[in-house]
Amino acid sequence: MTTRPVGVFDSGIGGLSVLQALRADLPHQSFVYVADSGHSPYGERDPSHVIARARALTRYLREAHDIQTLVVACNTATAAAIHLLREENADLPIVGLEPALKPAALASQTHRVGVLATRGTLQSAKFQALHQSLTEQADFVLRACDGLADAIEHQDLPRIEALAREHVTALGSCGAAKDQIDTVVLGCTHYPLILPTLQALLGPEVTLVESGAPVARQTRRMLPQAAETGEPRVLWYTTGDAGELQTAVQRWLQPQARVETLRI
Ligand code: DGL
Repeated sequence: MTTRPVGVFDSGIGGLSVLQALRADLPHQSFVYVADSGHSPYGERDPSHVIARARALTRYLREAHDIQTLVVACNTATAAAIHLLREENADLPIVGLEPALKPAALASQTHRVGVLATRGTLQSAKFQALHQSLTEQADFVLRACDGLADAIEHQDLPRIEALAREHVTALGSCGAAKDQIDTVVLGCTHYPLILPTLQALLGPEVTLVESGAPVARQTRRMLPQAAETGEPRVLWYTTGDAGELQTAVQRWLQPQARVETLRI
């Protein structure tokens, strides 16, 4: 008997940072990854666009791949749509991502935490409720990183450098001294893909917090069918440029990947 795959989607290549953690935690599990690059970036679009895309991708993953669990590997899509996806797919376990404010507040010694995320995530009711619930625990400095996910999506190195510098600078003073930001949350799944760039800009004393590993653990706990031993498979799809996803997969995850283009 083959185990049903886990479906994973993001607006583009950002979800690869989550898939990496999922594969490390669930080495025998098969996955289907969809990059919605033809409809990205999500973070600066109207939430109705993100909701429509999340619904279409979920339907596709269920109908074409009979997934046993869905991981919404995108903070922006989780914030806009996860409550609807759960309502409409009550029989499907769905794991989402949200910026790791709580672990960051616990880790911070200075009680000042920077949050880098998309405009859509920061403006969502879900994020605002999370932020409000933690204001006693730390001072959060929020930064909507316009353009950064898109630059990462297209691997545009000069634009990545310029935007990363602009957004990190806007956080203010970072370091381990009193009143400095000593912990920064990567609240968009694209950002861990440029971790060395961000760390270099923020300095060695700043701790970066992302959500990949905790989401992988949560997915393992929620899986209805435990993965068997055997050769797992990953199927790769994109609604955008197959070459871009292929290059990204080969760079971050595995040497060979066959990417198919989807029209959904
Ligand atoms: N990777 C997505 C996230 O985690 C969003 C990137 C985008 O703006 O499309 O928020």
